[in-house]
Amino acid sequence: MKEIDINRRTFIMKILWGLGGLLGLMTMIPVLGALFAPLFRKTPRAWRAVGKVDEFEIGKTVLVKYENAMPLSWSGLSSESASWLQRNSKEEFTAFAINCTHLGCPVRWEADAEIFLCPCHGGVYNKDGSYAAGPPPHGLNKYPVRIRNNQVEILTSPVPITNIGETES
Ligand code: FES
Repeated sequence: MKEIDINRRTFIMKILWGLGGLLGLMTMIPVLGALFAPLFRKTPRAWRAVGKVDEFEIGKTVLVKYENAMPLSWSGLSSESASWLQRNSKEEFTAFAINCTHLGCPVRWEADAEIFLCPCHGGVYNKDGSYAAGPPPHGLNKYPVRIRNNQVEILTSPVPITNIGETES
């Protein structure tokens, strides 16, 4: 009789341990999903028109603003994004990500010195976006650019943390 009690108790304990483990696993599913979902999500990208070709002077670098690639209906002003657009020749443009490659602060274009300057930790980039000085690990990221129907368009994406592509014209 005592042996049956022990076996019953052991059996019930095993079931409870099993149920506890199962519940633990079930609560981990949303956590794991939240952790790993970004790895499998495709980066949203969208072409945005930023102005007519003739609006940009050859040799100049200007700030252009546009709606980011993944606007949400409630995002308001935060859906606005920007790039530094450089017109290199009649048909060639370069669009630089505005975010510093160190920690993402918006960089400024200093027209007189012809450099991009990051106000956060003093990162400096050359006119062509290449690294010049300070903590950034590499030059500014670039967005692909194309001309369609006399409009300059930039292939926008969320703040890039790696190089995302070369300039097209
Ligand atoms: S964020 Fe630009 S140098 Fe640190």
